[in-house]
Amino acid sequence: MLVHPCGVANGALQEDPDEFRELVRAAQVEQVAFLLFTATAVSPRYFVGSGKLEEIRQQILAQDANLLLVNCVLTPSQERNLEEKLECRVVDRTGLILDIFAQRARTHEGKLQVELAQLNHISTRLVRGWGHLKRQKGGLGLRGPGETQLETDRRLLRARIQMLEKRLDKVRSQRALTRRARQRAQTPLVSLVGYTNAGKSTLFNALSQAGVYAADQLFATLDPTLRRLVIDGLGPFILADTVGFIRHLPHNLVRAFHATLEESIRADLLLHVVDCACEDRMEMMKQVRTVLAEVDEEIRGQAPTGERHQLQLEVFNKADLLGISPRIERDDQQRPCRVWMSAQENQGLDLLQQAIAELLTTDLVHEQVFLLPHQGRLRSRLYRLGAVQEESFDEQGVSVLNVRMPRQDFIRMFAQEEQGEQGEQGEQQSGHKHQARR
Ligand code: GTP
Repeated sequence: MLVHPCGVANGALQEDPDEFRELVRAAQVEQVAFLLFTATAVSPRYFVGSGKLEEIRQQILAQDANLLLVNCVLTPSQERNLEEKLECRVVDRTGLILDIFAQRARTHEGKLQVELAQLNHISTRLVRGWGHLKRQKGGLGLRGPGETQLETDRRLLRARIQMLEKRLDKVRSQRALTRRARQRAQTPLVSLVGYTNAGKSTLFNALSQAGVYAADQLFATLDPTLRRLVIDGLGPFILADTVGFIRHLPHNLVRAFHATLEESIRADLLLHVVDCACEDRMEMMKQVRTVLAEVDEEIRGQAPTGERHQLQLEVFNKADLLGISPRIERDDQQRPCRVWMSAQENQGLDLLQQAIAELLTTDLVHEQVFLLPHQGRLRSRLYRLGAVQEESFDEQGVSVLNVRMPRQDFIRMFAQEEQGEQGEQGEQQSGHKHQARR
């Protein structure tokens, strides 16, 4: 059962109810009831007033719910009092987010960092004991590495925290070694980042299905957030999904969240997925960039310098909601910088693959192409790819295009065009010719 306070509650900013639902979905919890209430005066004992408390109790009984999720930060005693009164587990926003991190943290360091945050969170709540919830077993907030620690005493907990901190130091110093090993393997890593609900998982699945080869079994079984894919013009690469950014992340979780992003920072290409139909998208993008820069700095602070600048591509997803056709936008140097597409509707996936291949491949051609008026389809295909740098027309109405694109795609596209023309026009002379400019 979900409870969402509106207004300023427990000194926290007001949260977004839709984001709350998304977080609950991400934690794989089944929602049986959603209660919105205005938290004008917060009760120090139960957080909610007595009337609302009774309403929640009735709902819990009616729905036979075994978990109450409250979308704000509760004090340990409020959590305990609520649990005693309602006879069911109570988890606040911090606990919920920690649970998602525990499920998603991938790197060794990320896992340690999340465990550390979980233990710190638990240690403040340990005084209460767990006798009042004897009937409850497992479930959200009790998952992940923190689970076995719940019944240990403070001394054991402190020892574990110290041990984790030591281990984290060691892992950090080994970072450079791991990175070198991956570089030796030479499989590019492409990471998806972005706010929760931007469509990262939808895109991850769509790209996995569109990829020429099926998912590598090893990756698929070891980690559901990694896929080994092959796309035209690039060859194999690894695609990684990450935990989404969350508004108003409790400050004690910032380090754990950063740890989940570390692998992304080391990716060869970062796909910044944005819900382009969302009003707050500019602010969200700014925050994503700021956090990525912070994580980058944290890593660089301990790693030797000399790393190359990371490639990034903005993926403006959900373009279907704005009625915008898929296309690639380019920067001053004509490199793809943004792709408008729709992962859900499978629109523009080809363009995204093209942009990924182009950014990760160095084998680009720079050609001058002549197109006759009847070759409008090829011309618009080149424009959609953003491959056209310049266009002019000669006296006969022939279009002269300067194009820049990966060599393999160039060869394939023109081979297809030639085949199509031969099929359509029989022995009529091929309508295009191209000549190398450099
Ligand atoms: P987290 O896992 O919470 O980080 O979210 P996410 O970024 O992985 O988003 P997810 O893929 O779960 O998509 C969120 C919602 O947006 C789902 O309801 C999707 O069906 C929807 N969605 C994703 N892509 C598109 C799209 O291209 N167009 C539209 N209209 N909806 C989309």
